[in-house]
Amino acid sequence: MFNANTRVLLAALLASLAAQAVDLPAPDATAGTQKLDPAALARSRLYHPPGVPGATDPNIDNVYSMQIMALPDVGRMQAVGRKIFFDKSLSGSGRMACASCHDPAYAYGPPNALAVQPGGAAMDKLGNRAVPSLRYKERMPSFTEHYFDEEHPTGQDQGPTGGYGWDGHFSTLHIQAGLPLLAPNEMANASQSDVAAKLRKAAYAAEFRDTFGKDALDDDARAFKWLTLALEYFQRDPQEFFPYTSKYDASLRGQVALSEQEQRGLKWFNDKEKGNCASCHTSTPERPGTMPVFTDFGLIALGVPRNASLPPNKQHGFYDMGLCGPYRGDLAAHHEYCGAFRTPSLRNVALRHTFFHNGAFHDLHEVVEFYATRDTDPAHWYPRIHSGPNKGKVDMYDDLPVALRKNVNHDAPFSPYADGRPRLDKQEVDDIVAFLKTLTDGYVVPGKQTASAATH
Ligand code: HEC
Ligand code: HEC
Repeated sequence: MFNANTRVLLAALLASLAAQAVDLPAPDATAGTQKLDPAALARSRLYHPPGVPGATDPNIDNVYSMQIMALPDVGRMQAVGRKIFFDKSLSGSGRMACASCHDPAYAYGPPNALAVQPGGAAMDKLGNRAVPSLRYKERMPSFTEHYFDEEHPTGQDQGPTGGYGWDGHFSTLHIQAGLPLLAPNEMANASQSDVAAKLRKAAYAAEFRDTFGKDALDDDARAFKWLTLALEYFQRDPQEFFPYTSKYDASLRGQVALSEQEQRGLKWFNDKEKGNCASCHTSTPERPGTMPVFTDFGLIALGVPRNASLPPNKQHGFYDMGLCGPYRGDLAAHHEYCGAFRTPSLRNVALRHTFFHNGAFHDLHEVVEFYATRDTDPAHWYPRIHSGPNKGKVDMYDDLPVALRKNVNHDAPFSPYADGRPRLDKQEVDDIVAFLKTLTDGYVVPGKQTASAATH
C-alpha cells in the first residue's frame, strides 16, 4: 500500500508527533488560558476540516479561496458567466437579465434614453441611478480615500478614487454582481437560495457543475458565490469588455488620421485653459504601448442638476450625494465628499442616450455645453427658487443641500475667462463632440476589414 519513501515520511511524522506529545502541557495546565471552542473553530475560515477538501466546505466564505481550492478553468468560467449574464430566468420577473440594462449593443450600457431603468418582480419599480457602461474597468483600482499613482509617483494624494458603482462602493466585480440579483428594484430575487434554485433549473446547470465541481449547486450560498465569480470572469473578457477598437485607438496605432475637426476637438479636450477634460478623463497613453481609458477613476462633485423625475427625489430633502451617502454609509461623516461621483470613462459615450449619475441629460452636445456654461449661464441649467427670502434666485447646484454646495468643482472648464466669457464657444463644443464620437468601439480601419471583428 505505501511505497518505501512514504513509509519513511510516515515514520518521521509519527516520531515528531510523539516528540510534540511529550512537550505538550497536560490538560490541567491550560486552565486559565482561552480554550478553543470547536464550534467556533469549525466556523472560522481558517479551519480546514480533516480529510475534506476545502472546496466543499460551505463555511469558506471568500470566493477567491474557493477558486484557489477548486481551480476552475478560466475559459469555462467565462462561457458560463456569459450565459448567466444573458439569462432572464434568473430574475423575479423572469423578464430581466444583466444584459437588459447592460446591453452589449450599447457597450454594455443602457439600451434606451430612460434616466433610470425599470425592474422588480412586476417590472414596475425604477432604479435610483443611470446605468453605467461595463467597459474599460480592467484597470480600475479598488476604492481608496487616498490615491497615490504608483506608475507616475508624484507624491501627491489624489483623493478618493476607484471602486465599482457611481459612488465607488464595491471593491470587486463578484461582490457587485450580487447586488442587482437581489435588489427589489432590479432583478428582484427573494434570496440567494431563490437564485440557486433557478440556477439548478437552468439549461446550463450541467455546464456549471462541470466548471465548478459536481457539488457546485448543492449548497445555496456556495452556488451563489460561484455564480458571481462566473460573472466576474465574463466581465474580464478582453474582446467584450476592453476591445480598444475605436477610431481614436486606430489613430494612436498610426493606422488612421483623425479629421481636422476631431483633431481640434482633441486639442480643446486636452488644453488646460479650454476644456481641461483630460485632467479627469485621461486621453493620452500613460506609457508607450498602453491605451488611455478616459478616466482617472477619481470621485469629484460637478454639481449636476437635480433630476426631479427620479422617484426618491420626489421626497423633499432627499439627496443622492454619492460618496457621502445615503446609498453608501461608511463615509457619511465626511461632508467634504458630498456630491462626489466617480468619473466615468468617455469611451463609447456617443452610444449613450442618458448621462451623469442621475440621468439628468439625454444629449451629448448638451452635456458638453453644460461644462462650458454651468457657471456663466446658470439660469439655463438650474431652476429658480419658488418661495422664501431667496425667491426668484437661481438655485445653483440644486442637487446638494445649500451648506454642501461649496464642494462643487470650479476648475476649468467651469471657471470662465477673466472677462467672463465661457472657456468653450459653440464651435469648440461642436469640435469636442466630434472628437468624443471617435471613442466608439468597432471602428473599421479603411482597407483592414477585419480590424474590429472582435466587436459586434
Ligand atoms: C435594472 C437595471 C440593471 C440590471 C438588471 C443590472 N444592473 Fe448593473 N448597474 C445598474 C445601475 C443603475 C448601476 C449603477 C449603480 C450605482 O452606481 O449605484 C449598475 C452598476 C453595475 C456595475 C458597476 C459599474 C461601474 O461603472 O462601476 C457592474 C459591474 C454591474 N452593474 C454589473 C451587473 C451585473 C453582472 C448584472 C447582472 C447580475 C447587472 N449589473 C444587472 C443597473 C442594472
Ligand atoms: C474635474 C473632473 C472633470 C473634468 C475636468 C471633466 N469631467 Fe466629465 N465627468 C466627471 C465626473 C465626476 C462625471 C460624472 C459626474 C456625475 O455623474 O455626477 C463626468 C461625466 C461626464 C460625462 C457623462 C458620461 C456618462 O457616462 O454619463 C461626459 C460626456 C463628460 N463627463 C465629458 C466631459 C468633457 C467633454 C469635459 C471637458 C469639457 C469633461 N467631461 C471634464 C469629471 C470631469
